[in-house]
Amino acid sequence: MNFSLSDSPPPSRDINPNPYLHPLPYEKRLINRRQIWAANRFWMEMYNMKTRRYGRKGPHHWYKLLLMMKAFKLILRLSGLYNKGMRNSANIKLQDISLYFPNLPKAFQGFTILHLSDLHLDGMKGLEDRVLGLLENRTVDLCVLTGDYRTGLHGLHKDIIGTLKYLIDNIDSRQGFIGVLGNHDSCHMVNPMEKIGIHMLINRTCLIHRGDEQIQCIGTDDVHYYYTDQALYALEHAQDYFSIALIHSPELYDKAAKMGVDLYLCGHTHAGQVCLPGGTAIIKHLNRGGKYYRGHWQYQKMQGITNSGVGTSGIPVRFNTQGEILIHHLNRQPV
Ligand SMILES: [Fe+2]
Repeated sequence: MNFSLSDSPPPSRDINPNPYLHPLPYEKRLINRRQIWAANRFWMEMYNMKTRRYGRKGPHHWYKLLLMMKAFKLILRLSGLYNKGMRNSANIKLQDISLYFPNLPKAFQGFTILHLSDLHLDGMKGLEDRVLGLLENRTVDLCVLTGDYRTGLHGLHKDIIGTLKYLIDNIDSRQGFIGVLGNHDSCHMVNPMEKIGIHMLINRTCLIHRGDEQIQCIGTDDVHYYYTDQALYALEHAQDYFSIALIHSPELYDKAAKMGVDLYLCGHTHAGQVCLPGGTAIIKHLNRGGKYYRGHWQYQKMQGITNSGVGTSGIPVRFNTQGEILIHHLNRQPV
C-alpha cells in the first residue's frame, strides 16, 4: 500500500456544535480524536439519535419504518412479485466508467478505482461470491468502499467482518482498500475492519502516491444519520491536491464542491431500490441532494458518482434498478 495519513484539525467550538456531543474532560491530553469520535458515535447509536446538518434531528422511531417494510413485504408476497424482486436483486452488473479531469496529475492517467457500496453482506446469501465472480481476472489500482456493510442498524457485526475479509482477500487491488462508514454501520466495526486491511477514513484524509505525484482521499463518517461538524472540517482542511471525497451519501455535495473536491464517490440510495418503470425512485432516503440519487452527475466543477449499491436494504428485492460494481477509470481531459 502506498498511503500516507493526515488528520484534520479539531473543530473549533464556536461553529454549529453537535448538540448531542457529550463533553469529555481532558480530551486533548488523555483521549485521542478517534476515541472522542467513537464515544460520540456510540452514544448516538445507542439512543437512536440522528444528527443531521439539514432536516429533523433527534431520536428515531424505527418501528414505523419496520411496520411499513413488513406491510410492503406482505403485499409483494400476496401479489407473487417477491421472488421476481429477489431475482432482480441478485442480478448485479459490473460497469466501467471513464472519468475526465483537466487537473488530474499525469502519473494518475489511467488510474482505476473499484467502487463498492452498500454491500449489506448479510442481506443476500452468497453475495460475496457473486461479487468475486464479476471481478475475476480484474486488477485495479485502488478499491474504495463507501459504507453500509451490514443490513441491520444495530447488533452483531462479527460475521460481516469475516465475510468482508474473504471478499478483500480475493480482490486484486494494487494500492489496497479504503473504507468509510454508512448509516447501517457501527463505530465498533472500525478497528476490526482496519485489522483485516481496510484503511478506514473517519473524518480524515490520506494521500495516494504514484511516481512522484499524489492525489488525496477525504473520508467522512456517515452524514445521513450521524453528521457532525468533523465531516465538514475534514473537507475544509484537506490539502490542495486532486481530491476524491468518500462519503456514504451525496448529501454533502455542495459543501464538497465549495471546498474544491474533484470527485465525490458515494452510495446509500440504492438508486431507489424499488422504483417505478423508467427508474423513478419512490423513496430516495436523502434529506437533500435528491437529484443526485443515482449515476454520474456534476455539480459546478465537481463530478459525482452515486453507486446504486451491491446489496439491498430492508427487503432483499429490487424493481427497475440494478445492483452494481463500478470501476472508475481516471483520465486527464484533453485540452
Ligand atoms: Fe445507507
